[in-house]
Amino acid sequence: MGYDTIQIKKLTPVVGAEVSGIDLTKPLSALQVAELKQALADHMVIFFRDQPIDFENHKTFARYFGGIHIAPSTAPWTVPGHPEITTIHADENSTFVAGEDWHSDMSCDPEPPLGSILYLHTVPEIGGDTVFSSMYAAYDGLSDRMKAYLEGLTAVHDAVVGFGGITPPGMTLPKSSHPVIRTHPMTGRRAIYVNRGFTVKIEGLPPHESAAILAFLYQHIQKPEYQCRFSWRPHSIAFWDNRCLQHSAIWDYFPNRRSGYRVQVTGEKPV
Ligand code: SIN
Repeated sequence: MGYDTIQIKKLTPVVGAEVSGIDLTKPLSALQVAELKQALADHMVIFFRDQPIDFENHKTFARYFGGIHIAPSTAPWTVPGHPEITTIHADENSTFVAGEDWHSDMSCDPEPPLGSILYLHTVPEIGGDTVFSSMYAAYDGLSDRMKAYLEGLTAVHDAVVGFGGITPPGMTLPKSSHPVIRTHPMTGRRAIYVNRGFTVKIEGLPPHESAAILAFLYQHIQKPEYQCRFSWRPHSIAFWDNRCLQHSAIWDYFPNRRSGYRVQVTGEKPV
């Protein structure tokens, strides 16, 4: 579709677009916000270059799209004085990075975040890309028989998978049940909603059948034709829709530094 206030350049025919002609350090007009919402719906993840935002700009930008999602399980990495902002950082001392495996952010929460807005101010000279996979395309790529099999199934998403062992001992971690196939509230499109980062089992199936179906789906969603790959530059921003995408942060730059901040926008219970 056409836009009046922004320019769009698609990364692939399937998913992802770079947005230009906008300054996220300044207040946005209602039309700009409406067009960004449409761009997110059309492309699932939108990217911005050369946006040296501060904490307040970051929060203000998120609030144009909803409330700010605060996940207690990410509290150990929040910026002091800014519980809405999570630090995303890796350097020569890191033993893990956030989001290395394919996942949809915080799908363990009862109402997982609609979207995530990641700003990186420091990036390695090469490497450190983020890969995004369209769960619409992955759903469309299933056989009709598999679509019928998955219809109506629910799966358990447990934060212990993503955060167990890296959060302080004794912290209560969320666990939720969501449909295996969800419908996007804005586009009405169907999307696969199980991910290796959080999903532990499909309910009502024998354990070996659940494990086999999940293994098939995790392999299926990784098809390159469902994906785009974003190469960061300092002061780039990625804003992705967790309801129809999975992503994976590639840690190929150790011991170099990659650093920035993430804010998440509140979402709804998946249906
Ligand atoms: C995340 O999973 O939110 C982090 C993604 C990234 O660092 O590219």
